[in-house]
Amino acid sequence: MVEIRDFSITDTEYVIAIADEQLGEGYVTADDLDGKNVIVAEDVDGKRVVGFCIAYIDSVDGKAYVKTVAVAQEYSVRGIGTALVAKAVDYLKGLGAKQIFSPLWKHDGVINSDVIFRRNGFVPKREIPDYWLNDSIEKGYSCPVCGKVCHCVCVMYGEEG
Ligand SMILES: CC(C)(COP(=O)(O)OP(=O)(O)OC[C@H]1O[C@@H](n2cnc3c(N)ncnc32)[C@H](O)[C@@H]1OP(=O)(O)O)[C@@H](O)C(=O)NCCC(=O)NCCS
Repeated sequence: MVEIRDFSITDTEYVIAIADEQLGEGYVTADDLDGKNVIVAEDVDGKRVVGFCIAYIDSVDGKAYVKTVAVAQEYSVRGIGTALVAKAVDYLKGLGAKQIFSPLWKHDGVINSDVIFRRNGFVPKREIPDYWLNDSIEKGYSCPVCGKVCHCVCVMYGEEG
């Protein structure tokens, strides 16, 4: 059985392993996981974390974002990604967010997480080229597609309406 719950510090290595595999090495670091803004999915029988989602309200623009979601390959297509986003939306609404955005990764014309966001009431709003470029250089992470310097396109999704 898979349970959705708040992150605890002992989940760090599992979350980083999933992120390295699914999002690129170094994209998520322990520093990204020190707040209350991380939700995890745990396989309670296997006692391991199998997915996570990061959500926050940006201190600069004041907007609410579901920043990232990833599920371990062997647990995919079981509804875990959809459930993580739903919980992240609840969390942000609980903080008073009126409208929530999510920068989704487009690769070869495909947005992997399109389905899970649409199921949570999101639609694409606009495309932003080189969205992760500065971040990839500053943080030095490795994009699974581009390597060290990321030129991937982001499609900014937002809640419908
Ligand atoms: C995208 C991701 C989070 C989905 O998690 P999940 O637990 O498999 O999602 P769910 O089971 O809730 O929903 C699965 C649906 O998404 C679709 N989906 C999952 N992975 C997909 C992919 N790589 N490409 C296209 N669609 C995909 C499935 O077709 C499925 O639809 P269906 O139920 O109609 O068959 C997971 O595959 C992942 O971690 N991918 C790599 C990281 C990534 O791209 N994250 C998003 C960054 S913005």
